[in-house]
Amino acid sequence: MKLPVLNRVQPAGILDGLATAIIAFDQGLRLSYLNSAAENLFSISRRQVQGQPLALAVPHLAEYTERLKQALNSGTGFIERELRLHRAGDESITVDCTVMPTQLSGANLVLELLPLDRHMRITRDEILQAQHEASRELIRGLAHEIKNPLGGIRGAAQLLEREFPDSEHREYTRVIIREADRLQNLVNRLLGPNRLPQKSMVNIHEVLEHVRQLVEAEAVAKFSVQRDYDPSIPEIYADREQLIQAVLNIARNALQALSADNGPEHALLFLRTRMRRQFNIAGVRHKLVVQIDIEDNGPGISKSMIEKIFYPMVTTRAEGTGLGLPIAQYLIHSHGGLVECQSRPGTTVFSIFLPLEHTA
Ligand SMILES: Nc1ncnc2c1ncn2[C@@H]1O[C@H](COP(=O)(O)OP(=O)(O)OP(=O)(O)O)[C@@H](O)[C@H]1O
Ligand SMILES: [Mg+2]
Repeated sequence: MKLPVLNRVQPAGILDGLATAIIAFDQGLRLSYLNSAAENLFSISRRQVQGQPLALAVPHLAEYTERLKQALNSGTGFIERELRLHRAGDESITVDCTVMPTQLSGANLVLELLPLDRHMRITRDEILQAQHEASRELIRGLAHEIKNPLGGIRGAAQLLEREFPDSEHREYTRVIIREADRLQNLVNRLLGPNRLPQKSMVNIHEVLEHVRQLVEAEAVAKFSVQRDYDPSIPEIYADREQLIQAVLNIARNALQALSADNGPEHALLFLRTRMRRQFNIAGVRHKLVVQIDIEDNGPGISKSMIEKIFYPMVTTRAEGTGLGLPIAQYLIHSHGGLVECQSRPGTTVFSIFLPLEHTA
């Protein structure tokens, strides 16, 4: 029997494929290795933190420095469940953590961290996605039912107008036609895009810049834009118009929140792009995903509201239809992606995740 050729296996490649974050420190508690999952979990880059002391390399672990030092010196590891890790200004991360002292030179202390928030979020995302799909079907069904008789009502009003051109009732037929048109518009938005995606190679930064110009042109209040783009992100195979529509819907909301009465003194829109490795979207693990953040320093979205904003017709604005976000989400889903939102007063971030697999 032929044995598999083990020496062809690349251990670093295997470690980068894990969903668990692995971090190794040397004898002096300097970071000697971290895998892709750890880079994602702590939003740090291997190149920047390698060789740095623990607290600098991974600020989330700073408060555990003494415990880790003890584990290293005593040669006794430990396991801690549902450990909450903090970093100033960031949301906390919950992990199951295993600490193992080893005899390996350069990797004297190895940490294995299983992120729990993301696991909980993935399950919740999947449930939410199924709920959104069900509600979308219902809304589409209803919209179709309204659309057909609406055409009839408008047509009949036009006929009446033509039959009795000088009638004093013309004012009423005008109202019928105008209101039917308004409803027709709403129904069309409810039905969503009625064409198949037309995909080509798209530069995501060109899309963002286009949206920036659009919102700058239509903004009623003063605001500044900050950009932090990762220029190494390759072009993505996508429908440019649909991506613009999705980003525009989210950016418009941000601008509306910024110009609200309780908006900030210095309104700021922040556009950021990042590459994410080994990222789960709706139960599918992707090697490479592009993350687009649209952030504002507006008043934020209340806890009771945030669970609902992706449902159709949910709005807090008098003139809003509550369709901007469900449409954005539908367009991103049809690209195999995901939209997430995190908000607290003063910081609201909508993150769009798009897989890069089909990209040349
Ligand atoms: N950046 C944000 N800051 C604060 N609230 C937001 C933000 N983005 C969305 N929201 C909230 O989510 C709600 C739903 O947004 P959505 O875009 O779906 O509808 P809308 O903006 O109210 O109406 P439409 O987009 O159809 O004109 C908004 O009414 C608002 O309350
Ligand atoms: Mg909107």
